[in-house]
Parts: sequence; structure tokens; C-alpha cells
Amino acid sequence: METQRVYIDDIQHPDDTAIAAAARLLQQGEIVAFPTETVYGLGANAFDPQACAKIYAAKGRPADNPLILHVCSLDMARSLALEWPEAAERCARKFWPGPLTLVVRKRADIPDEVTGYLPTVGIRFPAHPVALALIRAAGFPIAAPSANLSGKPSPTSGRHTWRDLQGKIPLILDAGSCIVGLESTVLDLTSAEPAILRPGGVTREQLAEVLGVVRVDGLEPWRIPKAPGMKYRHYAPLGEMYLFVGSRENIVQVIREEMRKWRVRGKKIGILCTLESVSELNHEWPDFMYAMGSQTRPAEVAANLFEGLRLCDERKIDVILAEGVEESGLGLAIMNRLEKAAGHKLIRV
Ligand code: TXA
Ligand code: MG
Repeated sequence: METQRVYIDDIQHPDDTAIAAAARLLQQGEIVAFPTETVYGLGANAFDPQACAKIYAAKGRPADNPLILHVCSLDMARSLALEWPEAAERCARKFWPGPLTLVVRKRADIPDEVTGYLPTVGIRFPAHPVALALIRAAGFPIAAPSANLSGKPSPTSGRHTWRDLQGKIPLILDAGSCIVGLESTVLDLTSAEPAILRPGGVTREQLAEVLGVVRVDGLEPWRIPKAPGMKYRHYAPLGEMYLFVGSRENIVQVIREEMRKWRVRGKKIGILCTLESVSELNHEWPDFMYAMGSQTRPAEVAANLFEGLRLCDERKIDVILAEGVEESGLGLAIMNRLEKAAGHKLIRV
């Protein structure tokens, strides 16, 4: 299949012709990749199980992993839910449009194939003008997972999406890089206590301000996660990855020792670190060095993380040594993704 890549230059006022063409494809039962503020999504008509099946095929995604339904209004969100709890209303008013997915009981007319045969549905109102224009033009909620091949990090740019899906889908709307760069927070509102199933762009602290206590579920590997997607090993870089946490001085020292150790073994070494550590780590001449952002600006680290991981693979790095960040605020989501990429090889120094 030939994939068209359409560039959207003015993100605030996306070109009507491009949006209309994408919406038409969706209405015809096709799938289309589009930008959101978190990561790129691969979308289909949420009420068309055959169209949604194409998403699973293109990504190589397990069938029990449900899709998030993207909406362009609160009314559209409520129309998908069997019950719309008070907590959902409060979160929606505070964080939508934005990087938060609310899991609620679903209406019977949402196809089971789309929700992994669960009685619930994840709903998100994204904060990206292109995504919103597309949902509006299509006229229905768009079911969409991240637009990566299964097993790769989520795509945070049109380039990532192109690399993963060219030849597999008819159209990619390319609006450059995503501002948040990590997937949405998935919040389960179907049990007595709200629970974060996947940490993401909206932090636990922000949710707690609105909801009181919020549990974080599914982070412990020995538990069976409620978000089916959390049980899959999300992303294994080609190289072996190690994640270091502790004081910055210790991390720098240990990573430098590790570099020397791996170099004698003839390995190609990649470093993912914070801006603060760049010059000290550069002394050891790694084969590839990527600064994700400043320790004092976790949003910057979040936005660049997946790009850094993908570049390590593109450069065929054998060993990735990564500097962890503090696990508060956005740091919880950052560390969740880094730990998964490292296959939980976490070293405290
Ligand atoms: O930011 C995002 O959420 C991006 C953009 C495109 O919106 N989407 C995304 O989708 O990351 P995906 O499919 O890659 O991840 C969705 C996660 C999976 O772990 C899935 O299992 C979980 O949300 N999920 C979806 N519906 C659910 C439900 N009804 N109950 C529990 N978990 C659900
Ligand atoms: Mg995904």
C-alpha cells in the first residue's frame, strides 16, 4: 500500500482539505495516523469493528488490548459511557482537553472488539487542533492506540510514525513533534477508589487535588494489570539497557565506569541522560549521547525520551546507559517508560 504523508504547517488552523481527506478515509472504513499532544495515534471509526481490526493488523497488536476512544466534546464522551460518575465529570472539567484517559463502564453499542471484550471503555478528549478537527470532521469518536508498531516506543513525531507505518496505512497527517511526548494517564473510575492504570501526562499529584487519594495500580510487575496494555513488555531496544538512579554524582561516576567496562568488550555505547550530566559523561567518549532535557524541567525530558530511545536503535547501539529522574510529578511516568525499556534493569547507586 502506498502511504501518503501530508504535512500540516499551521497546527492551530489545519488545512481543511487535508482534514477532509483524512475524515473521508475514516468514514470509508480506513485507518489514518494523526497527531495528538501526547503521541501520534492510529485511528479508525470506533463504531466500525472491521476498520478497528485494521489497526490491530497494521500494528501487530494483541487483540485483548483495548483501544482508547478519542472525542471532541464532553457530550460525545458522556454518550459513550453507561454511567458517567461524578469523578469523571470533575476530571473532565479540569483536565480536558488534555493527556488524560478516563476508564468508565461502556455503552453496549461500542463493539467488543474495540474494547478488548472488556465491559469498560477508555475515553480521551485530546488537546491537539489537528486531532480535534479530524474527530469533528469524521463525526464519530475515533478509536486509536499509539501509532507505533507493537514493541516500539510510541511515535512522538511524524517521522517516527512514517518509519513504523509507511506502506501499511493509506495516510499520515504529519504535524511535527508532540508537545507532551508521553502517552496519556489512564485513570480507572470503575471501582470504589480511582486508580491510575498507566502514569502519563497528567500527574498523580494533579489528580489527587481533584479526587483526593488516587491509587497507582499496575506498576508492580507481579500484579496482573487492569490495563491490558501494561502487561506487554512495551519496548525492548535493540541494545541492552540499564537504568541508574540515585544522586547525580553517583550516577555519573557509575555510568563512566560502566562505559569503560563495556568499551573493552568492544560494545557500541549510548547514553541517555539529563542536560546537567552531559559534559561529565562526554569525557568518556560514548558512541552516542542524547540529552533528554534538564532535571529541573521534567516536561522536557518527557517530550524527548522516545526520540532518544529510537535514535539508539537507529544507530545500532549495543548498550544503553540511562540516567533516571526523580519519581515525582511527571517523573513517575518518565521512570515507568524508562524502566520498561530497560526490562526493569534498575540499578540504585
Ligand atoms: O496518549 C495516549 O493515550 C495515546 C494517544 C494516541 O491518545 N494513545 C495510547 O493508546 O497510548 P495505547 O493503545 O497505546 O495505550 C492505551 C492503554 C493501554 O495500556 C490499554 O490497555 C489501556 O490504555 N486501556 C484502554 N482501554 C482500557 C480499558 N477499558 N480498561 C483498562 N485499560 C484500558
Ligand atoms: Mg501504545
